[in-house]
This record gives sequence, C-alpha cells and structure tokens, in this order.
Amino acid sequence: MPTWTVHGGKKLKGKLKIQGAKNAVLPIMAASILGGGTSRLVNCPQLSDINASVDILRHLGCKVSCRDNEIIIDSDNVCKCHIPHTLMLKMRSSVMYMGAILARMGEVRLSRPGGCELGSRPIDLHLKALKTLGAEISEERGEVCCRAKQLRGAHIHLDFPSVGATENAMLAACAAEGETVITNAACEPEIVDLQNFLRCKGAQISGAGSSVIRISGFRPRKFACHRIMADRIAASTYLCAAASCGGDVLLDDAIANYFYTVITSLRSMGCDIICGSNYVRIKSSGRLKAGRPIVTKPYPGFPTDSQSLMMAACLKAEGTSVFVENIFENRFRHVPEMRRLGADIRTEGRVAMVSGVERLSGAPLNASDLRGGAALVLAGLIADGETCVYDTGHIDRGYENFAYALSSLGADIKRI
Ligand code: UD1
Repeated sequence: MPTWTVHGGKKLKGKLKIQGAKNAVLPIMAASILGGGTSRLVNCPQLSDINASVDILRHLGCKVSCRDNEIIIDSDNVCKCHIPHTLMLKMRSSVMYMGAILARMGEVRLSRPGGCELGSRPIDLHLKALKTLGAEISEERGEVCCRAKQLRGAHIHLDFPSVGATENAMLAACAAEGETVITNAACEPEIVDLQNFLRCKGAQISGAGSSVIRISGFRPRKFACHRIMADRIAASTYLCAAASCGGDVLLDDAIANYFYTVITSLRSMGCDIICGSNYVRIKSSGRLKAGRPIVTKPYPGFPTDSQSLMMAACLKAEGTSVFVENIFENRFRHVPEMRRLGADIRTEGRVAMVSGVERLSGAPLNASDLRGGAALVLAGLIADGETCVYDTGHIDRGYENFAYALSSLGADIKRI
C-alpha cells in the first residue's frame, strides 16, 4: 500500500510538464479496437488504470506494446467479446469497452460495474443509448449482455449529459448503418479528443464539444496515430497546490480553456494567473481569501474532479468558501480526513462550507478515492509537520509520478 509522506510549509517554484489525460486515453484505448488495424497513441500517462486497460486489450486478442509514454495497439485479431469480472474490477472505466466491443463483434458481455467510492454509478444511460441503436440487452448473474446483428443509426437523446454514456454511444454508432445524432451529449474536452481519434480511425463524426454529435459513417483505416490531450485535472491539481503553498509555477502543455473555471476561481481568491496558448503560470503569495462559490456542473461548469483539490486550497483561505457538489452523491469523503488536520468544514447534503483556519497540523490520513486522495496530499503541503496519506492505490490510478512532480517544484513529499 503506497503511503505519501509530506512535510508541509514549502513554497512551490519551477516548471512542470502536464501529463496526458487519463480520461481521454481510456476511451481512446477502447476505441482502438474499432475496425481493426494499428493505433499509435503518444503522450499516454503511465498510470495503473492504463495498465488495467492494456490487460483488457490483451485479453480481447490485441497485441499491445508500451514504451515510455507511447502505446501501440494492433487490434486485427480481436476474438473475444467477454470481459471477465476480475479485469472489470480493476478499473471502473472498463464500461467504456461496452460500445467498442459491441461495434466490433456484434456482441458484448461484461459484469455490471458496482457502486464505487463516489456513489452508486448506474449505467442506465449507456444501456438506453445502445438499445436505441438496436442492441438487445439482457442481464444474467450480474453480467450485462448486448447483442446486435446490425446496429442502426438513430437519434439518441441523453437525459443527462453523461461523459461515459456519450462516449459509449459514439463508439457503438461507428458500426451503425445510417446516421446517428446524439443530443444533450456531454461537452467535455476528452470527448473532443475521442472524436479526433475516431476521425484518424476513419469515422465521419462531428459536433463533439457541443451538445449535438453526429456520426454518419466509418471506413476503417489500417493505421491511426494520435497525441493524447493534456490532463486538465492534473493541471488543476498542481495549480491548486501552488495557489495554497505560494510560489511561482509554470505548467507546460496546459490548455487554460479546458479548466478555465478553476483558473477564475483561483483568481477570485487572489492568485495571479497568466495563460498562454499551451501554458499556465501561477504566482501566489499563499495567503488566499475565500472566493466565489464552487458549484460543480457538467463541462463547461466547474469539474467535479477538481472539487476536492480546490477545497484543499481553501482550508486556510480567509473567510468562508462554499462548495456545492451536483454530480456525484458521495464526493465529500475527503472532508472527515481534512478535519483531522484541524480544518473547519461543515457539510449538509450536497453543500460544504469551509471556514479558513490559521493553522493546520499534520496527521495520518486515509485516501478514499483518486481526487480526494490527491487533495489530502495537497492539504498536507500546507499543514505544519508531517502528514502521511495511506492510500490503497487511488492516486497512482490518475497521477503519473505524483511525488516526483511535486518534489521537482520544491515540495517535501515521498511515496513509500
Ligand atoms: C467521467 C470521468 C470522471 C468524472 C465524470 C464527471 C472518465 C473515465 N471518468 O466519469 O472522472 O468525474 O465523468 O465529469 O472519463 N449517470 C447516471 N446514469 C448513467 C451514467 C451516469 O445516472 O448511465 C450519472 C452518474 O451517477 C453521475 C453523473 O451521471 O451522477 C455523471 O456521470 P458521468 O458523466 O457518466 O461520469 P463518468 O463517465 O462515469
């Protein structure tokens, strides 16, 4: 079990290259099996979730080679349409393979993802989208089975702009005859990245980034090469760390537009942030004041994944910071742990109120989820003395060399 040991009180200074986006590479890896051929993905972060996805691709019959930040997937010999429960358990996002395997094989069987640390995580919208394209869906022994001799283009309206359901619908629609229109689609930048990759693979697809996506055909190409976009949540993590620790940090390969709500929130707290075409630079005294309320919403609203990170940045900010979590029911699990450092946080349902305190003091903490765990590390960076974050592997799911990245900026942190 990794333990992150932090000694707080250091300012952060320097330059950091932002990793490729976990939430972009995972659906793109699933998409690589569409139509066979070889996909070369560059700027892939090295993460345990990516390893889990590689295991699934190999199980399906792909040849996969990984070197540094590059993954090459040869999917010509995909021969299985079932993902065993043990592989599904390793990563929730494996539900992404549902649309891709259905499109490739005409059938898919996988275990229904159970609840997770963030809440119940239903997949009703995914299934409704696939059904609209003509898939027959059945469930047995905890497994979902989707079958379709021929998927047919259709109008899919999502009742909520779910990221995963939008991606699954895009993947399945590539194999459909006729045009598919997805309305109330999620608009996240990772969906645009998936569209860009699908175009390289030979799909005729447009509209990603808006709420209407059209897929009208797919002529598979033998080779596709794609550079994974920069990770906006990793970028906002390091930005929040620099904001509360104080210092001067330049994030290279960070696209400000993708996490503008985080930038404006930190500016409202007193940080000086300059944005270039592919960098973001933050200067902060570390003495912050409570800013505008943080209300999580689908993109382009404030990302739920950055809520806990922003909360860590607010723990010592003067005044009261208000958080409203609208996406996941169970996303304040870091709060009781932050209180152990001396943070003053009250919660009521979806709302958390943080009253800034003068001092936090280091303590042993338990990471409950990926972003919540990273937020505890950030809190440790502004606490006096030593904080140990005990983690069952959450942080390694989403951050490439997290301890190295923070210590290269001057933080006192070790991963043991
Ligand atoms: C993705 C991201 C995750 C991020 C989330 C919201 C990946 C790998 N993960 O997760 O990091 O926090 O978007 O930005 O990209 N819902 C339903 N029924 C469904 C599907 C979703 O009710 O069939 C609900 C969920 O319970 C949740 C909300 O919709 O309350 C948003 O979920 P969704 O956008 O689907 O998130 P994910 O794709 O799972």
